[in-house]
Amino acid sequence: MRGPHRPGRAQEASAARGGENRGFSLGLLALCLAAARCLQSQGVSLYIPQSTINATVQEDILLSVDYSCHGVPTIEWKYTSTWATQKIVEWKPGSQANISESHKDRVSTFDNGSIQLFSVGVRDSGYYVITVTEHVGSSQFGTIVLHVSEIRYEDLHFVAVLLALLAAVAAVLISLMWVCNRCAYKFQRKRRHKLKESTTEEIELQNVEC
Ligand SMILES: *[C@@H]1O[C@H](CO)[C@@H](O)[C@H](O)[C@H]1NC(C)=O
Ligand SMILES: *[C@@H]1O[C@H](CO)[C@@H](O)[C@H](O)[C@H]1NC(C)=O
Ligand SMILES: *[C@@H]1O[C@H](CO)[C@@H](O)[C@H](O)[C@H]1NC(C)=O
Repeated sequence: MRGPHRPGRAQEASAARGGENRGFSLGLLALCLAAARCLQSQGVSLYIPQSTINATVQEDILLSVDYSCHGVPTIEWKYTSTWATQKIVEWKPGSQANISESHKDRVSTFDNGSIQLFSVGVRDSGYYVITVTEHVGSSQFGTIVLHVSEIRYEDLHFVAVLLALLAAVAAVLISLMWVCNRCAYKFQRKRRHKLKESTTEEIELQNVEC
């Protein structure tokens, strides 16, 4: 990688020396940057295709990542929320994973560094931080944010329809009650009228008897 670059840089540098001092230092800077890039590419690189995941309760979630590095790294996943940080799992690809007590039977690991969480709950919402560490010590970390919500959108739709239906039934019942009430009122008034007539008759009769 460095080989083909060198002659160009040397020419550039000598041209700069012929011209200005500033050109020379610029060439040096470019060389330093190239060297830094070469060093960086020797470390771990981590690829996270989706850094935010929206899920609903009881879904199985794949926290998908992929890495490249020299040799076999150590991969560690941590969970961080506003109130806690805990280790989920640590393993070297190709060997047994050390899964923490809190996530026993809820996590499976993949050789590319991904993990799958089974049947997530709302309390699994938070930040999932992966750290990939090479045996020489260089490491790289990345974060995936998981939002777990209680209700599915289909459920929400169903609830909305149900509420509308209930409102309609309630409206019909209320108008029915109103009509009944009116009928009962009229009926009562008639009866009271009749009752009044009969009682006055009775009173008159009683008066006569006395
Ligand atoms: C997740 O939901 C949030 C709102 O809660 C939204 O802004 C975001 O775009 C969603 N992301 C995905 C990947 O669906
Ligand atoms: C990692 O591996 C899993 C399982 O083979 C796969 O589903 C996932 O897409 C991979 N992730 C990436 C980023 O390649
Ligand atoms: C698994 O992790 C725990 C806590 O981090 C540690 O005490 C234990 O020794 C580890 N087990 C193995 C087999 O690495």
